[in-house]
Amino acid sequence: PTIYRHDYQAPAFWIDTVDLTFDLDPAKTRVLNKMTLRRNPDVPAQPLRLDGEELNLARVLVNGQGTSFKLEGDQLVLENLPEGADPIALEIFTTCNPSKNTELMGLYTSEGGFFTQCEAQGFRRITYFLDRPDVMATYKVTLRAEKKAYPVLLSNGNLLEQGDLEDGRHFAVWHDPFRKPSYLFALVAAPLVAREQRIVSRGGKEHLLQVFVRPGDLDKTEHAMQALLQSIAWDEARFGLALDLERFMIVATSDFNAGAMENKGLNIFNTKYVLAKPSTATDDDYDGITSVIGHEYFHNWTGNRITCRDWFQLSLKEGLTVFRDQEFSEDLAGSPSARAVCRIGNVRGLRAVQFSEDSGPMAHPVRPDQYQEIANFYTATVYEKGAEVVRMYQTLVGRDGFRKGMDLYFQRHDGQAVTCDDFAQAMADANPDSALAAQLEVFKRWYSQAGTPVLHASGSYDAAAQTYTLTLRQSCPATPGQPAKQPFLIPVRMGLIGRDGQALPLQLQGDTGTPLLERVLVLHDTEASFTFADIPEAPVPSLLRQFSAPVWLELQGEDEAAQLHRLAHDSDAFNRWEAAQRLMMAQAVSAVQASEMPAQVLNASTLDALRAVLRNPALDAAFKQLVLTLPDELEIAEELDSVDPQRIKMVSEALCQQVAHALAEDWLSLYEAHENTGAYVPEPVSAGRRALANLALENLCRIARDSGDVVWPGKAYQRFKDASNMTDRMGALRALLEGQSVLAQPALERFHALFQDEALVLDKWFRLQATRNDLDGKVLGQVRALLQHKDFHLSNPNRVRSLITAFCHANPGAFHRADAAGYVFWADQVLALDGINAQIAARLARAMDHWKRLAEPYRSAAGEAIRRVAAKPDLSADVREVVSRALQDA
Ligand code: ARG
Ligand code: ZN
Repeated sequence: PTIYRHDYQAPAFWIDTVDLTFDLDPAKTRVLNKMTLRRNPDVPAQPLRLDGEELNLARVLVNGQGTSFKLEGDQLVLENLPEGADPIALEIFTTCNPSKNTELMGLYTSEGGFFTQCEAQGFRRITYFLDRPDVMATYKVTLRAEKKAYPVLLSNGNLLEQGDLEDGRHFAVWHDPFRKPSYLFALVAAPLVAREQRIVSRGGKEHLLQVFVRPGDLDKTEHAMQALLQSIAWDEARFGLALDLERFMIVATSDFNAGAMENKGLNIFNTKYVLAKPSTATDDDYDGITSVIGHEYFHNWTGNRITCRDWFQLSLKEGLTVFRDQEFSEDLAGSPSARAVCRIGNVRGLRAVQFSEDSGPMAHPVRPDQYQEIANFYTATVYEKGAEVVRMYQTLVGRDGFRKGMDLYFQRHDGQAVTCDDFAQAMADANPDSALAAQLEVFKRWYSQAGTPVLHASGSYDAAAQTYTLTLRQSCPATPGQPAKQPFLIPVRMGLIGRDGQALPLQLQGDTGTPLLERVLVLHDTEASFTFADIPEAPVPSLLRQFSAPVWLELQGEDEAAQLHRLAHDSDAFNRWEAAQRLMMAQAVSAVQASEMPAQVLNASTLDALRAVLRNPALDAAFKQLVLTLPDELEIAEELDSVDPQRIKMVSEALCQQVAHALAEDWLSLYEAHENTGAYVPEPVSAGRRALANLALENLCRIARDSGDVVWPGKAYQRFKDASNMTDRMGALRALLEGQSVLAQPALERFHALFQDEALVLDKWFRLQATRNDLDGKVLGQVRALLQHKDFHLSNPNRVRSLITAFCHANPGAFHRADAAGYVFWADQVLALDGINAQIAARLARAMDHWKRLAEPYRSAAGEAIRRVAAKPDLSADVREVVSRALQDA
């Protein structure tokens, strides 16, 4: 059934308190749920309908007495509750089977422990409840379990009491003083140990911080604790938001559907975002941990203290919290260029995943209007585009104005379940003189309209009048259910660059203020022109600096010289990087579209410009590495209306080989200059050096592949063997794979032997093989063989993502085969997974989002595979929604 945003109705009952008692047993856990409810006086009297799923119901008591009830589908319906305003005591006794819970929603077992995941609708798999975010209650939780097997018993809030019971069992009683929706409930019962830290916050309050892991993993928790301490300090300093709990716990589990979960006071994490030591985690892993720890911690205010009224408002907490974690990471990075590197990384991710989502069958607004399965809407649109929308508020009202808006938001709504409109209103009301307040309704179209707008820009210089006029025009392609779009409000951060590379002062005609070197223009109509006075020479415009809006930018009539000028001179590091990307992309696209494959993809001037970047002593290694990261197959495909994956693969391969050979001398000298980064510290400067050294090594091994040279593969193997940290080890291994070296296979085998007991490293091992460059069409066969590997388990989401999802989503050249074997594999795996974990299956299903843009024979074969999946009668709602959208008007 489809759920519509406009059908929202307040609940007929409120639940004020919940008292839960768990007798934990893997096969049969008993749950006693005692609630106090009252009727919502604002809603006409009606029966109570409680959500439940996969529960065995044993008893229902109302005010201590037996009562009549019925089960309608998944709901427990009580029709004869007392009338009037008095509180009602409702007691429900159920059992469930955590060991059979392979969906990993609700209460499940993992590696000998119990864990929960309740967002969005997992609590109903624990007990009957009004499982919706606008019903907020205080919880008291008693946990009872065998002491030896489950020495640690955790739930939200404060520990009231703990002790021993008969028969080797023990108990703990927890109380959470904050009202919360059911999706923030959590419990853990497992054999864990904790790294602990006590802190005193600014108000003089003491707090206990704990990171719980399996005993062997304690040596990988230092970075996580550090990140938590930094998060706490940052939220106080930047937003005046302090830790409100005596105890803040993080628990890591290796079986987890998502990255992590912000349960009040008891965050549960995928081990991937907690565990790190230099020998097992890469620089990217360390960064990922910092941002996810920050993200979940920041949810305590943006998500938990103020939560969502209904799930259509998901971006209220997710967009805002992603924005906050991005700002946190940027602030930690420090230098302007390290900040730019962060921003470029985030924008690359946004464009790769969200822009692609926006142009496919699953396109939806930041605040969706309908869904069949809410789990399918934890998307790049809700998260990453949502974060860009929040960033635009800050761009429009400034950092101080944004802080004022946040303050007002908390003043008005602390303790409430609210909507995206409430957030927008607080931002506008706190900044009454802003362009945001003046055009709030236009701005809010970012929440209601799907699709990526195109910003068309053209400039004209009038030498006689010494003026430069910039004309901005916008359009937005249709998306499913939204054929026509109204204009968006687009903030365009910009500057003008003079002939010598200098920034030209910007004075809008008729404006008398002091000229600025950078401005934010606001486009809120279909088209607008801006004329700058006293411009002495024809400038090169630099638009959308820092990527100030989530749009495609089209610079009309711009020649290559202008791009090269920006690459050489733009004061905005983001746009400098962007200029290089555009230069390379344009040439890659014409190579794909040419009737005959050209001998060279890039022209000489582009190669010269790339070389100049590598040789520029003023630029950081991290930035150089990003500029020389070439457009990949998926990015190229996104630019095309008809996609021939094998043709794109050929061009991409030619591009890589060309850049390797053309810059050979530079790769050599860069490798020598950066290969040794000293003792491992996960921080941006040395991480940049490692990234550049690894890129250089990869290119040197690519050159060796053509020349038959064995020296560089030999060096790479040596580096792989001797590496003191995982970043260098993975870099060398990838170089061997890219170089198609005969040493690649022995290196992979050695890697497995070294790390066979490190689950997160094994994930890397599977992923490397699933995503390796497929020059001989053998990767699919290898992936199939790896499914039979003793370390592969279809029930573990991290492993599935590393092998199956990575292959189908991130290795287009291997996946899209003319013989359709990739699609057959995809359908088989979606169907196999659907019976185990529907959320993971649905994510895999989305690898076919863009099948309609495929050229033949791919398109027909893909359609057939999708129809085969859709034909399965008892498909989960998750996968059903994805494939039926993909097939719509096919
Ligand atoms: N709220 C969590 C976070 O963003 C993610 C929950 C994931 N839930 C899901 N159904 N995918 O931190
Ligand atoms: Zn989140």
